[in-house]
Amino acid sequence: MQVIIVTDYEEMSDRAAGIVTEAVRRKPDVVLGLATGSTPEGLYAKLVQAHKEDGLDFSRVVTFNLDEYVDLPPDHPQGYRYFMNEHLFNHVNIDVANTHVPDGRAECLSSQCERYEQMIRDAGGIELQVLGIGRDGHVAFNEPGTSLGSGTHITALTRETIEDNSRFFDSPDDVPRFAITMGIGSILQARRCIFMATGANKADAVKAALEGPVTATVTASALQMHPDTVAIVDEAAAAKLDLLDFYRWQQDNWDRIADRL
Ligand code: PGA
Repeated sequence: MQVIIVTDYEEMSDRAAGIVTEAVRRKPDVVLGLATGSTPEGLYAKLVQAHKEDGLDFSRVVTFNLDEYVDLPPDHPQGYRYFMNEHLFNHVNIDVANTHVPDGRAECLSSQCERYEQMIRDAGGIELQVLGIGRDGHVAFNEPGTSLGSGTHITALTRETIEDNSRFFDSPDDVPRFAITMGIGSILQARRCIFMATGANKADAVKAALEGPVTATVTASALQMHPDTVAIVDEAAAAKLDLLDFYRWQQDNWDRIADRL
């Protein structure tokens, strides 16, 4: 895993946007895996800017979102389809038919999970997956204890996640208890991952994910097994990393061999 330490949220968003922009330019029909939450909002704002100011073309881009709450009404402002429309899809020239968010209102949730995995396979797999991390170490809604081989599945949310996400709802009681989420096994199949983390409240989770043992208790730690993940972590979230100096040293010296990579 390549770990890039950045000053703050702005720089994290910039670095991530640089990677996504390059992927779209290099392959206009790239398949992107997208995340929701406050972490990637800045990234999406920068992609919108790249579209408006530099003509970044999304017309052939295909997207799959990581997860969705079970049973929120389709127009609910905290639904993840709504989030993606608000933060990205409505502001770029993407074809809505090429955008996919799991259907948390499906009559048969288990068939919806299988269907979602099939759709990803039919699209040729995810080429670049955007990820954040929860305080309990989850990526997507893969809560502690989820199999590291899991495909798209239905999960109960932990109390911690419900509490964290209640800031977006009127009260914690309004936060859905269940979600549909791509699994750790699904995420590990993405060709490349961008993992982003920001803020001091993520420092313990980042430490466990990047430097702890690989364990289903911290599902983000499975990324240590992924062959091509770049972690972009701001100073506050990186504060507890043991290898912080090494990551910085590596970063500072990288340019010397960059033209041979
Ligand atoms: P956040 O959520 O980006 O809103 O902090 C991240 C997550 O729970 O995965």
